[in-house]
This record gives sequence, structure tokens and C-alpha cells, in this order.
Amino acid sequence: MEQPASNPPGTLRRLDPRRDLDAVANLVEVAFGLRGDPDGQFVLNQMRENAARQRQEPFLSNLALPSADGYVWEDGGKIVGNISLIPFQAGLRPICLVANVAVAEEYRNHGIATALTRHALRIARQRQGMAVWLQVRHENQVAIGVYESLGFRHFGSVSQYRRAGETPRGTSPLAGYPSLVEVGERQRSEWPAQKAALRATYPPETRWYLNVDFNAFGPRAWYNPLNWINLPRLKHLSFRSGSRWQGTLTWQGTDTRADNLWLAMAKDAVQEEHVSRLLKVFMERIWNGRPLNLEYPMGRYTEGILSAGFELARNLDWMHYLPPQKWPLGVLRKTGTAR
Ligand SMILES: CC(C)(COP(=O)(O)OP(=O)(O)OC[C@H]1O[C@@H](n2cnc3c(N)ncnc32)[C@H](O)[C@@H]1OP(=O)(O)O)[C@@H](O)C(=O)NCCC(=O)NCCS
Repeated sequence: MEQPASNPPGTLRRLDPRRDLDAVANLVEVAFGLRGDPDGQFVLNQMRENAARQRQEPFLSNLALPSADGYVWEDGGKIVGNISLIPFQAGLRPICLVANVAVAEEYRNHGIATALTRHALRIARQRQGMAVWLQVRHENQVAIGVYESLGFRHFGSVSQYRRAGETPRGTSPLAGYPSLVEVGERQRSEWPAQKAALRATYPPETRWYLNVDFNAFGPRAWYNPLNWINLPRLKHLSFRSGSRWQGTLTWQGTDTRADNLWLAMAKDAVQEEHVSRLLKVFMERIWNGRPLNLEYPMGRYTEGILSAGFELARNLDWMHYLPPQKWPLGVLRKTGTAR
């Protein structure tokens, strides 16, 4: 198996979910500092539950998770490094998402992450045309350096905001709100503009793994029985200036820890203050008090989102490694801020 340049103790081997998942969850929790992070804890709990299932019913669990793959770095029976490979299909293009790259602190700077990532690239290259994607914290220069040295390139940045759960305050009139600016139910006629804004803000390349189908946001979605389960968990609130559509906020109820918000704004510069009002009206009229997640291209409407009571959880860079000769395709060119 692979040995990095400076030859740290240990070897790279394939993850064995039955015996490794708990150790990997512990490593990821410490390496990413996830102790006080509710989203992180949610994912770790899933990992630990999966580990327990794998031990109890290894055959059934393997059937349920046929394609996820992973590699660990082991030294003296202790797992000190990890990389996870999650395959996706974006349209016709096979994509491998690299995640949970973590090395125990005392083993860092010996080339373990480089060796694990290089190995992941080798595995991905065995499949014709497979691109490799990853998300990394915007400020994580060490990890970004490792990925760039292996040929990954930055192609967009997003901010993830969250709002903790609380008892909603209930309906209240919008005192002092300028009369020309109106917030109300989304109109049918606004859907084409909302759809175009959603597609530009959340390109398919970056949301294929999120459980959302923007077609279900349209006013005709009721005609498709496949949408009937999810439609009651979607609500749209539009914001207009005069009679002109300025943007729509969609609430998507989920079964996970937090519900999602999707923000589709008109191309013309909408004032931060109005984005803030749109979110506040949502909180007053629609919010059920569950925690909320909102992702938006980094550097856009930050002030408006924060002043509506959201906190910035993290800024993330998307990076990708495309098969030779096939890039750049210009994905995400309209979103995010180039570093
Ligand atoms: C990021 C991480 C995985 C790197 O693991 P690692 O095994 O130490 O990485 P490597 O030894 O392969 O490479 C580290 C590189 O960063 C360089 N480096 C170290 N400290 C640095 C710093 N402060 N600034 C810039 N580069 C730095 C090293 O010199 C080395 O580069 P080189 O190979 O050209 O000498 C590890 O620090 C970690 O687990 N961090 C916490 C979790 C995390 O952030 N994961 C990434 C998620 S996308």
C-alpha cells in the first residue's frame, strides 16, 4: 500500500465499516472540532448508528450502502487518518465526492492526507470520466494547499447560515414597512423568474446531493402525484417593490435536524435591508420554530441574512479535480467569489 514521502508510521488500507466506523467518527469529531456543532453532531450520530447497525446486521447494512467507499491510515491498530469517497451521478456525469479528510493532530505534516487524497484520485480515475469534488472551509489553507498540490481547482464559494430553533412569535403586522415594498404569498406569474434565480444561485452541480427538486416549487407541481407528499412542506413568500418581483424565499420542511430555506433574488441589486425583511416576515408568518439552514453564495446578502437573526456557520469552497482534457466547464461561474 501507499507510503508518503516522509514515511510516517502506519499504512493505508480500505475502510472496514464493521470495525472502523466508530474510530473514524471519533477522529472526525476531534479533527474538525465538532463537539459543539449541532449539524456536525447530527452527521456523527448517523455515522455511529450506522456503525452499530453494521455490527448487528452486517449483511443488510452492506446492501443498504453498496457504493460508499473509504480509506484509513492505521498505525499500530489505531486509526489516525481517514478519507471518504461518496459517488454521485450529476446528469450523465459520474462524480466522486471526497469528504471527512482528517488526520490525528500528532500525525500531521507527514504527508498522510496527501497520500490518502492521491489514493482517492487513483480510485476515481479507474472509472472513465469521473470528476472528483470536495468542499473545504474557505480559511483552511493547509487543506486547500494539499488539494491544490494534487491538481484540484477552486470553482465557487458558499456561506452556510443557520438559525437555532425557538418558539415562533406568531403573526404580527409589519409596522413601519414602506408601503411600496410588499411581502406576500408567491404568485403563479412569479414562478419563471423564481425558477431562473434558483437555478443561477444553486446550480445543479452543487445541490445534486441535497434532497431538493426545484420543479416541485412550481405552481403546477400539484399535477404530479409524486410531489403530493412533499408539497405541504414547501411554502413560498415573495417580495415585491411596487408591483415588480424582487425575490422569493422558500421554506422546505425536512426530516433532518433543520429545515431548509432557499433564496431566489432578482438580478437587479436588492437591498440588504429588504432581504432581511423578507426573512423576518417569514419568521413571523410561517416559521414553525424548527432550526433553519440557509446556504447562499459567499459575499452576497451577508448583512441582510445576519441582521435577520441568522449566524454564519461556515464559509465553504468548492474544489474539483476533473479528468484530464475535460475542464474547465465553467460550472458555478456565476456564483461565489473567486479566491
Ligand atoms: C488538513 C489535514 C487533513 C492535513 O493532513 P496532513 O496529513 O497533515 O497533510 P499533509 O502532511 O499531507 O500535508 C500538509 C501540508 O500542509 C503544509 N502546512 C502545514 N502547516 C501549514 C500552514 N500553517 N499553512 C500552510 N501550509 C501548511 C505542510 O507543509 C504540508 O505541505 P507539504 O507537503 O508541501 O510540505 C489535517 O490538518 C487535518 O486533519 N485537519 C483538520 C480536519 C480538516 O481540516 N480536514 C480537511 C477537510 S476538507
